Amino acid sequence: ESVDNAPAIVIGSGYGAAVAALRLGQAGIRTLVIEMGRLWNTPGSDGKVFCPTDAPDRRSMWFRTRTEAPLATFLWLDVVNRDISPYPGVLDRVRFANMSVYVGRGVGGGSLVNGSMAVTPLQSYFAEQFPTVDTAEMYGTYFPRARSMLGVNTIDPAWFESTEWYRFTRISRKHAENAGLRTTFVPSVYDFAYMQREAAGTATRSALGAEVIYGNNHGKRSLDKTYLASALGTGNVTIHTMERARGIRRESDGTYVVTVDRIDDTGTVVETKEYGCTYLFLGAGSVGTTELLVRARAKGTLPALDASVGSGWGTNGNVMLGRANHLWDTVGANQSTMPVMGIDDWANTANPVFAEIAPLPTGLEHWVSLYLAITKNRERASFTYDAASDSAKLGWSAAQSAVSVSMAKKLFDRINAANSTIYRYDLFGSPSKVFADDFTYHPLGGCVLGKATDGYGRVKGYAKLYVTDGSLVPGSIGVNPFVTITALAERTMARVLAEDTAA
Ligand code: FDA
Repeated sequence: ESVDNAPAIVIGSGYGAAVAALRLGQAGIRTLVIEMGRLWNTPGSDGKVFCPTDAPDRRSMWFRTRTEAPLATFLWLDVVNRDISPYPGVLDRVRFANMSVYVGRGVGGGSLVNGSMAVTPLQSYFAEQFPTVDTAEMYGTYFPRARSMLGVNTIDPAWFESTEWYRFTRISRKHAENAGLRTTFVPSVYDFAYMQREAAGTATRSALGAEVIYGNNHGKRSLDKTYLASALGTGNVTIHTMERARGIRRESDGTYVVTVDRIDDTGTVVETKEYGCTYLFLGAGSVGTTELLVRARAKGTLPALDASVGSGWGTNGNVMLGRANHLWDTVGANQSTMPVMGIDDWANTANPVFAEIAPLPTGLEHWVSLYLAITKNRERASFTYDAASDSAKLGWSAAQSAVSVSMAKKLFDRINAANSTIYRYDLFGSPSKVFADDFTYHPLGGCVLGKATDGYGRVKGYAKLYVTDGSLVPGSIGVNPFVTITALAERTMARVLAEDTAA
């Protein structure tokens, strides 16, 4: 058997992984990135890299025969999902007993499919969630570094007030203000100058062409265009795609061996390989990294992992819901897919909620106001290893989701009361379901900073093994998480490169 060696290996290519790859490459350390998904850079027969949201094909989802979009129905019609042929598509829905987790698959991870909202958390809540982290240093150094590297920008307020593409947001703002609530602009990694050209008809439509969860063909500063492009530019970083890490073990000399299954476009394992390294960085995301570690502990290949590995997982309190507007409150047939505003009631200590005003771009007037609410749900769950399926099982219960629903409901009952409006009952699959509480876009935790790792993401019990992704965040951060994940990874890499790799 042959073992390929690299000084450093990074598993995954999402936010945490991309930061690790760039900073290792800049430090002159030869680094191999292992990503289970594809590199999304080759146009299909339609000339586009990613497929349209309203006509999804095999590029949309990770090995499915039918798409599994979050909105299952609209006006009780099953109009949203489509039959597709199995393929390593860009969006995956990982199903656990009471909770589905949406994740991106491909070079760039979640950055390929997400809503681009680039939000820095409230400093006081960050400090509450990360009591051992120096918040002054985070907010003075690492958050600004992350925002600048990610290419965060903000919408021009004058354009926002005038464009038909954000009418849906202005209507929701008015309804929030009628209830005495505060709204705030949300920064983004979607290029707003490009979006204005889309609106003017001088650039190919992407955000204004209903593209988002199955990938954006233009306008979005996903990681393959930012951190990962720079990482490759160092000349020290190589990315292997369609390779899924399965096992991690430590040799007697302290180096690590990663067992990887290489798959083809049908999902068949065509080769199993081993890679050796001195430094191993886990950036497979909250679910991916936690599963790798929980499996390695249970199988005895990393037996000394801390008992807390697998625990402290949460949904960031995610709940989705829709409201039905009065006929005179039109939301517009034209809607940008990139949200730019949130209803900020986080300071309400009795019921902290931050609710994004989400688009529902169908090309028709539908009078629906859609929201993704982030609630301060304190419920947490754990992953355990299931030998029969060789996978991690999540112990999240429906009752734990109900906590998020009751918080979102308190806020939106106020908004409905102030505007004499009601909820929409037809959006989430069953006629009685008003709140979509069985999926999350924001999986967080499983390998929590300061518990499963030291204060910098160094895995307890294993020198030169690091976690750099969303599994470090203890289940909740109060806003969309990728800026926080990026900033924490920058902090980890600064420390690791200063202290651990010097020799
Ligand atoms: P991330 O999940 O990004 O990357 C992990 C990578 O590792 C993936 O590419 C995966 O394929 C790979 N991988 C996993 N297991 C592996 C294995 N065993 N071997 C090899 N590779 C493996 N956040 C935000 O801040 N603003 C927003 O607007 C949104 N909107 C949004 C919409 C949708 C639809 C989704 C699904 C998510 C969001 N998010 C978001 C969430 C955000 O995208 C998410 O928090 C980050 O992508 C998480 O970054 P990580 O670095 O933790 O992993």
